[in-house]
Amino acid sequence: MSDKATGDFMGALRRAVANVHLYPTGHPQGEVALDMLAETTATLVDAEDSVVLSLMDNAFYLDRDLLPQASLEYRDLYHVLRGHGLDSITIMSGATLGDLAELAGFLAEDGSDIPADGTIRLNERPYNRSELIKQASLSEIRHSYATSLDFLNGVAESMTEDDGADITAAVWTVEQLLEKVLLQPGASLLLSTLKTHDEYTFYHSINTCMLAVTVGQAIGLDNDQLVQLGVGALLHDLGKIRVPIEVIQYPGRLDDAMWKEIQRHPHEGAQAILAGSGEGQEIAALVALEHHARFDLAGYPTVGRRERLHLYSRITSICDVYDALTTRRSYKRALPPATALKIIVENAGSQLDPDLVQVFVSILGIFPAGSLLRLDTGDIAVVLVAGQDGETMQAAIAVTAAGEHLSAPEPFQLTVDRVRDLVLPDEVGLDPASLVESPHLNLT
Ligand SMILES: [Fe+2]
Repeated sequence: MSDKATGDFMGALRRAVANVHLYPTGHPQGEVALDMLAETTATLVDAEDSVVLSLMDNAFYLDRDLLPQASLEYRDLYHVLRGHGLDSITIMSGATLGDLAELAGFLAEDGSDIPADGTIRLNERPYNRSELIKQASLSEIRHSYATSLDFLNGVAESMTEDDGADITAAVWTVEQLLEKVLLQPGASLLLSTLKTHDEYTFYHSINTCMLAVTVGQAIGLDNDQLVQLGVGALLHDLGKIRVPIEVIQYPGRLDDAMWKEIQRHPHEGAQAILAGSGEGQEIAALVALEHHARFDLAGYPTVGRRERLHLYSRITSICDVYDALTTRRSYKRALPPATALKIIVENAGSQLDPDLVQVFVSILGIFPAGSLLRLDTGDIAVVLVAGQDGETMQAAIAVTAAGEHLSAPEPFQLTVDRVRDLVLPDEVGLDPASLVESPHLNLT
């Protein structure tokens, strides 16, 4: 099933439901929407006996396939369906325009009902949770991601009222994230390394946290340590809330006064964390204080004579730099993941801890998931799963040498020696995130 067909169907369903309120039965506009719904349904049901739209954990599934794009795009429709107590809608071949009009009417609450033995069946739930869950990893992590964002927004608000950060809530947030990260490290790495949003301190904090706990896990930290590391990484840039937004987002070269303002954020963050409630704030405060101090201690602020930065600060620094480099901002393009890794490697031993850099590169692979690569054939491939051996990776051709965009690419094993060049998404009009999340590509 193509992405476009499922997207068109969801869009048509939403429009048909909205139009029930807007136009009386038989109005041409309402009829157009229903025609569209019938047409898109026919495309889906074509060659099948039936299709099942399931709802679970804020995500849509068509048959067994998670619909990542539609789950984000049609959140309002998800809530409408849930509001009617629906877990699934089964549409059988032979569903007529009249049947679909009844469905739209029922969802729009115009008083109509759906016959129990018709071509459209509600809540038959042919797929159980465990059949769908295999595909759910990304959507579950997205859900935790959204919860973390809510938490950070709450912290930001409380800090403007001069309260400290709520460490207990931070621990809870990280535990939620951690559960998902430990369960599906591949999927969480994917989410934190694929960028579809503009730079925003809070997104950056969550990405840094997810990357940091993945590194922590790789070097053998236990669960309590991972939570401490995660809290430090999540709150590392908290002090930026107290730096004027015009300075944070200033697009040009900073003058001395602005630079001084920026350099205040590690201190501000550490103070806010120490002023907050909850246990374990000392380490989180240390991470906030040290994350720009550099491995060679030549950064800011000066951290005294201690030999080394805290391990969690050194991990957070690497993840902070990587996420900043790969994130698009209003005044700079995002670097491809592989280019960002190259910069990380160049700074190993000076700005960053070389041993941890090695761990970081081995986790992400030389070409991380989402990298776009021009091959020896001229085709452009997207990396789906980075190889841990430095030689091979799972990839799919997204654009052929002739310039044709492939809508349903087939995964294959790609060897590093076939890579000629890195390609920026904007150059070829591709969104690596949606390619990697494409339901055609079986990543598990
Ligand atoms: Fe920072």
